[in-house]
Amino acid sequence: NWVVRDQRDTLMRDLAADICARLHGAIQQRGIAFLAVSGGSTVKTLFPLLANTPIDWAHVRIGLVDDRWVDEFSADSNERLVRELLLQNKAVDAQFVPMKTPHASPEAGVAQRNQDYAALPWPCDVMLLGMGEDAHTASLFPCSEELGRALTTDDVVVAVNPTTAPYARMSLSLASVINSRYIVVLTCGASKRAVLEAALKDGPVADMPIRGALRATAPCAIYYAP
Ligand code: 6PG
Repeated sequence: NWVVRDQRDTLMRDLAADICARLHGAIQQRGIAFLAVSGGSTVKTLFPLLANTPIDWAHVRIGLVDDRWVDEFSADSNERLVRELLLQNKAVDAQFVPMKTPHASPEAGVAQRNQDYAALPWPCDVMLLGMGEDAHTASLFPCSEELGRALTTDDVVVAVNPTTAPYARMSLSLASVINSRYIVVLTCGASKRAVLEAALKDGPVADMPIRGALRATAPCAIYYAP
């Protein structure tokens, strides 16, 4: 279902409250919650709001949906976004599992992260996804040769070298993305609305990988503002 707001700041406030309620419920029921977040630019206004909701972060395990294979201090690092804007450098590192490893490449680092991510308390309570203009989500890019594997593997995390993206990446596989109790797609801008409406129509996931998430059996909400 769509949650549409006229203003992006209203949208972000409502989404932060929704995520907070879901994580709080998970902690109440199971003593632990698992939140997986995407990076990119749209989340930059959400994370500080989320950081200031009454969530007991000590009981939340936090994973990334994907990350670029760049230094964790790089402006392009999703790990940096989480540490600075979501955790606000709180001492909850034990709760956050990054994706980038000291290895030279995603292919070299993926085995370690597969182990680390497999140990998270799946199903994920809140899977926060973004979407690119090309209908990619996570680092699952349309029609890339790795996409085939990322759509079919049981691995939790995959190494991705999409020719259409400026960095090598590591990403949750589609199987991990849909292994969630609640999926949120956060996206803004008229051009993205048109892409989402196209993605909601029939067609191959390989052409529009966001379809893989939108077709999941888990409840899914599209948070959209112009
Ligand atoms: C990334 C994200 C990616 C992002 C979309 C949307 O590492 O870039 O995980 O999947 O969610 O590309 O990004 P914007 O919010 O910047 O449009």
